[in-house]
Amino acid sequence: MTGNVHLMFLSTFLLVSMASEIFDAMEGEALVIKCPRWSSSVKVTWYHMDTNKIIPAEEEGSRIFSFKQFLWFLPNSREDSGNYACVTHFSNNRTKSFNMSMQVHPYKQGVCFPSQIRYPNDTGRGKIVCPTIDNYKNATIIQWYKDCKPLQGERYFKGEKYIFINNPSKEDDGYYTCQFTYTHKGNVFNVSATRIFISKVKHSPLPPQILFPKDKDVIEVELGAALSLKCQARLGIKKQPLAVVTWDVDNIPVKYLDFSRFHEKMHFFERHEQVYYRETTLHITEIKKEDLQANFTCVAVNEMHNTKATVTLQLKAQSGLPNSFLIIGSLVLLVAIAVLVILYQSFRVDIVLLYREIFQPYSVKDDGKIYDAYVIYPRNHTNEANFVEYFVYQIMPDILENKCGYKLCIYGRDIYPGEDTASAIEKRMQKSRRLILILTHQLISCKELAYDQHIALYKALIQNDTKVILLEMETIGNYAKLQESLRFIIKQQESSET
Ligand SMILES: *[C@@H]1O[C@H](CO)[C@@H](O)[C@H](O)[C@H]1NC(C)=O
Ligand SMILES: *[C@@H]1O[C@H](CO)[C@@H](O)[C@H](O)[C@H]1NC(C)=O
Ligand SMILES: *[C@@H]1O[C@H](CO)[C@@H](O)[C@H](O)[C@H]1NC(C)=O
Ligand SMILES: *[C@@H]1O[C@H](CO)[C@@H](O)[C@H](O)[C@H]1NC(C)=O
Ligand SMILES: *[C@@H]1O[C@H](CO)[C@@H](O)[C@H](O)[C@H]1NC(C)=O
Ligand SMILES: *[C@@H]1O[C@H](CO)[C@@H](O)[C@H](O)[C@H]1NC(C)=O
Repeated sequence: MTGNVHLMFLSTFLLVSMASEIFDAMEGEALVIKCPRWSSSVKVTWYHMDTNKIIPAEEEGSRIFSFKQFLWFLPNSREDSGNYACVTHFSNNRTKSFNMSMQVHPYKQGVCFPSQIRYPNDTGRGKIVCPTIDNYKNATIIQWYKDCKPLQGERYFKGEKYIFINNPSKEDDGYYTCQFTYTHKGNVFNVSATRIFISKVKHSPLPPQILFPKDKDVIEVELGAALSLKCQARLGIKKQPLAVVTWDVDNIPVKYLDFSRFHEKMHFFERHEQVYYRETTLHITEIKKEDLQANFTCVAVNEMHNTKATVTLQLKAQSGLPNSFLIIGSLVLLVAIAVLVILYQSFRVDIVLLYREIFQPYSVKDDGKIYDAYVIYPRNHTNEANFVEYFVYQIMPDILENKCGYKLCIYGRDIYPGEDTASAIEKRMQKSRRLILILTHQLISCKELAYDQHIALYKALIQNDTKVILLEMETIGNYAKLQESLRFIIKQQESSET
């Protein structure tokens, strides 16, 4: 009981302290006035103070009528200007009266709003809310005007009940009029309302945009596993006073869900041009079956607008190889192919020739030879590691000897420096069925060929009893620079191939 008395006292105090209100309207438009301070438990009577008459509820064909806290002028007319009051009747027989005055303004050339603007100025960052539109059920904004000129362009983002100016500046200051239609019992009326906008921009929102996840994405999960859902949204330029990026599960905000299973972590950051982003991660400690039926919605909100993206979960396919293995497998294969292509391109090994000359099975093995091939290669006179030597000492023996079972004779490996080189080389060559000549720029530009090269070339050219296999390790391109003997051998190779 004492509580009730206390409450009554408070509301009485509030009512008494209310100032009377003034409403302005343009002639011929609809006008709906709302009685301030009203609750559904009190009865309201509307009076026209100048005639002391009660304004009744709507009847067939009535232009001015009242219902609960609202007073309608459909449409208004200039003679409606005057004083009105709404009287609220409390249960203890006390009444409270609110005076208000209504002013109908005639249109003047080029003026689309009353001489007095009663609605608070928007000193803001670009969002201009259409005044009084909430009094009109199912109103639709038709057009916005600035200083009575229609607004158009990409800079203006139109919300249901507001307009947003992107990046407003001093030039945007002015009178903003929203014109909307109000439909009552099939009759359509125009309404307009105007407020002043004064830009005062330190930061500005942009229409919120969720960068990820994509709406309708399906995310693969495993039952019992943990999951993190990240949502990132762009919200404006510079730190935003209203910037929310949050997750709902079946439209219930995560903060109301079982926090042992769901919780959110958020942070914000700015990127180039001070574009402001927020990112919120929903952590689910353990995926349960019911989650597979749920909608996980990321909601991004700023002063302007809100936007949403909904994802669902689906069980990871169990059969077959896990995706990551397939990917790694494909990558390995790709790399292997790439390496082969590069090797082939780099060394231009004439594979057909190599195969025919080296891998051709010998029917007669007891021809007095020890080696299948003698390898001639450019000697490196520096101590630097050299790919040609690596090729000769490692790759060739590995493939031809270890894998294919052929026997090579390689200077430096099979002939030790310090032996009587010349005779040693000659002997080994005589015991070899083939010569493999590794052709590089170094070999070509070398003025003095090594001794074994001389012998080899001599044998190839004069005695012509040993087959020569050329391995072009580097792109030689123009053969014109080659020593005549080498050119001869290449020519022989080409003619024997065709
Ligand atoms: C309010 O007025 C009615 C009649 O005017 C009376 O019957 C009723 O008792 C009054 N209620 C209070 C709480 O004073
Ligand atoms: C409301 O108007 C009536 C009649 O004009 C006047 O008697 C009363 O004092 C006014 N009340 C307020 C709160 O302005
Ligand atoms: C609104 O802006 C107008 C024009 O600048 C100014 O005259 C008026 O005092 C302002 N009203 C408020 C409440 O700031
Ligand atoms: C709201 O207005 C639209 C068109 O403006 C109309 O189609 C719809 O029926 C209206 N709804 C109500 C509840 O009046
Ligand atoms: C409402 O305004 C529009 C454009 O200003 C006009 O064409 C139309 O006739 C008006 N409708 C009424 C019912 O006054
Ligand atoms: C999830 O969203 C879809 C599409 O909007 C809707 O059809 C479905 O009913 C929603 N499911 C739940 C559980 O809210």
